Amino acid sequence: MTPITHAQLDWDDQGRPHSRVFDDVYFSDQSGLEETRYVFLEQNRLQERFAALPMGGRLVIGETGFGTGLNFLCAWQLFDQHAVAGARLHFVSVEKYPLSHADLQRALALWPELQPYAEQLLAQYIAIHQGFQRLVLDNGRVTLTLLIGDALEQLPQLDAQIDAWFLDGFAPAKNPDMWTAELFAELARLAAPGSTISTFTSTGWVRRLINAAGFKMKRTPGIGHKWEILRGEFLGWPELTPRPAVTAPWFARPAPHTGERRALVIGGGMAGCCTAASLAARGWQVCLLERHAALAQEASGNPQGVLYLKLSAHGTALSQLIVSGFGYTRRLLEHLQRGVDWDACGVLQLAFNAKEAERQAQLAEAFAPDLLHRVDATQAQAHAGIPLEQGGLFFPDGGWVHPPALCEWQARHPNIEVKLHQEALTLQRVDGQWQARDGDTPIADAPVVVLAGAAEIKRFPFSAALPLKRIRGQITRLPHTAQSQELSTVVCAQGYVAPARLGEHTLGASFDFKSDDLTPTLAEHADNLELLREISPTLLQALHPDNQALDTLEGRAAFRCTSPDYLPIVGPLADADAFAQAFGILARDARQVPDTPCPWLEGVYINSGHGSRGLITAPLSAQLLAAWLDNEPLPLPISVAQACHPNRFALRELIRGKSHKTP
Ligand SMILES: Cc1cc2nc3c(=O)[nH]c(=O)nc-3n(C[C@H](O)[C@H](O)[C@H](O)COP(=O)(O)OP(=O)(O)OC[C@H]3O[C@@H](n4cnc5c(N)ncnc54)[C@H](O)[C@@H]3O)c2cc1C
Ligand SMILES: C[S@@+](CC[C@H](N)C(=O)[O-])C[C@H]1O[C@@H](n2cnc3c(N)ncnc32)[C@H](O)[C@@H]1O
Repeated sequence: MTPITHAQLDWDDQGRPHSRVFDDVYFSDQSGLEETRYVFLEQNRLQERFAALPMGGRLVIGETGFGTGLNFLCAWQLFDQHAVAGARLHFVSVEKYPLSHADLQRALALWPELQPYAEQLLAQYIAIHQGFQRLVLDNGRVTLTLLIGDALEQLPQLDAQIDAWFLDGFAPAKNPDMWTAELFAELARLAAPGSTISTFTSTGWVRRLINAAGFKMKRTPGIGHKWEILRGEFLGWPELTPRPAVTAPWFARPAPHTGERRALVIGGGMAGCCTAASLAARGWQVCLLERHAALAQEASGNPQGVLYLKLSAHGTALSQLIVSGFGYTRRLLEHLQRGVDWDACGVLQLAFNAKEAERQAQLAEAFAPDLLHRVDATQAQAHAGIPLEQGGLFFPDGGWVHPPALCEWQARHPNIEVKLHQEALTLQRVDGQWQARDGDTPIADAPVVVLAGAAEIKRFPFSAALPLKRIRGQITRLPHTAQSQELSTVVCAQGYVAPARLGEHTLGASFDFKSDDLTPTLAEHADNLELLREISPTLLQALHPDNQALDTLEGRAAFRCTSPDYLPIVGPLADADAFAQAFGILARDARQVPDTPCPWLEGVYINSGHGSRGLITAPLSAQLLAAWLDNEPLPLPISVAQACHPNRFALRELIRGKSHKTP
């Protein structure tokens, strides 16, 4: 994996950015705004298309080369001016060299009339690291998905239907890599029926290559010093070119939901609250059921959780999910109160043994320094403000979160009705609705149900076979002391300690695979103190001197809910028996892709299995879930979405020759 680097810019005497790598300008010398509007907005007829969107309608724009975001902001402004209140804009853009925050701010200051939009973008342009990065703007009316990396690596991982393409990857002569047949084939694969396309260039070989991919391009008069430009539309996949492989039916999208947009979300922890928020922002009416007296009373109820990134240098699905999920959660937190609800104090992962030091060295090679970088013991101490014996990896954007604050904020939307003290014991399909019942008493119903109750989702017969396990964990709460107040970043080794929130540090967390009891135990407080000793014996002394009794300690225990591959379970659910029947042939030949539709359980979706990193995975999983449900661009690479798909287990079992029957 090659780490992403920021754009290297020079600024001309008018304050305009120029790329050092490509020796080209980001926008026209004369008027970037006019050129953008003419080349991209007008040629794609966006004003009339925005105006024609119905309530709940959406338009998806795709772009090669996000650069300064000027095209995006102009499209957003036009959308704002012409689309009805309930319509939505999706903008997906690929960028190999993202601008730093400071450069983006400087570039966008050139356009005062875009300031209200630029301000919102800048406020969310945080933790833009490699891979898919989703930004939710204007209360969910506008969604920006940045694919950070090379276009030819990123676009093949995109699952979307693009209505209008903006081709803006520097001049073909300066950057031929952005104008290849391979890339245009990707644009065609992703084009929605009737998709339009435009670009500032009229170069003949570019036009011929785009035509060959299935578009029909026309030269049209240009603007400024551009004599001609190109616009066109997608006619269809060219007959003589082999078609891209179809998605296997078990990972294909279920038929789009057409009925009433009402959903029942069961479980008021991080997964359920974020799912409710994702759907509500899309205009769904959501009923959120929680059995306790308040939201976030189980795993999501700790006073502090850490934005802890356990990455792999090998770009695994889990590692990609973590980088994307971290960015997404980090941006959400910007809406909360810093210091009380969360803090971006950084996270230090200590190299607590030789193996960990080796792993960290590999990670530092694979990721950009603004995501993580190595620090020696002296630098680590300077970050942490306390004596430390080892160096490690520092994550400057990391920090701690008060999970209940994030849950409550997510659930606070006029489209969400929170029903507390309501335990869904059974679920029945009645007249096309999923009805949750407590014994004989119906609690609520809706055509769509999302099971977000961690391992409790196994109580329903149709999700009982999902291989979820509970792992008990306990945190210890320690009142701060004069010395411990010096702690200025989260420090982790095999456990973690966070800077004090409201006068208390959280120390975590034990793992117990056997216990079903949630009463805090002294043994686990003692384990947590040992985890703190590994981090810093000095801090341990400051917080819990040797002579202090264990039974003075306070804490809480809850269950993590994990899957065997440590990835969450997110997406539509199939009928297990019908699945085994429909795809039984895989037991004999795993390479078969039968032409049989997946027997989905109509309207049943899952968001669970977030293990020990739900603060990072659950919010983005809620976006993924809404994208499956609303047939939108996925916020994650296809391979990652499939690695999290509920069908993966039934598929593996079939291939291993064991059929996946409900008990
Ligand atoms: C000790 C400990 C420390 C942790 N530390 C971190 C950390 O530092 N960083 C991090 O990222 N993650 C951490 N985690 C993991 C993180 O807390 C979880 O991944 C996350 O909270 C999971 O959220 P959830 O919504 O899936 O589950 P939960 O928060 O458990 O929520 C499930 C909810 O569903 C409700 N429910 C279930 N069934 C029903 C039903 N039938 N009807 C009504 N309601 C129902 C439950 O009452 C519960 O409120 C930690 C976990 C533990 C236990
Ligand atoms: C002309 S600029 C885009 C301007 C931009 N649309 C705007 O509104 O400011 C071209 C962009 O393409 C990016 N780029 C160039 N080659 C790329 C590649 N192979 N993959 C992804 N992005 C690339 C550049 O880093 C640059 O930001």
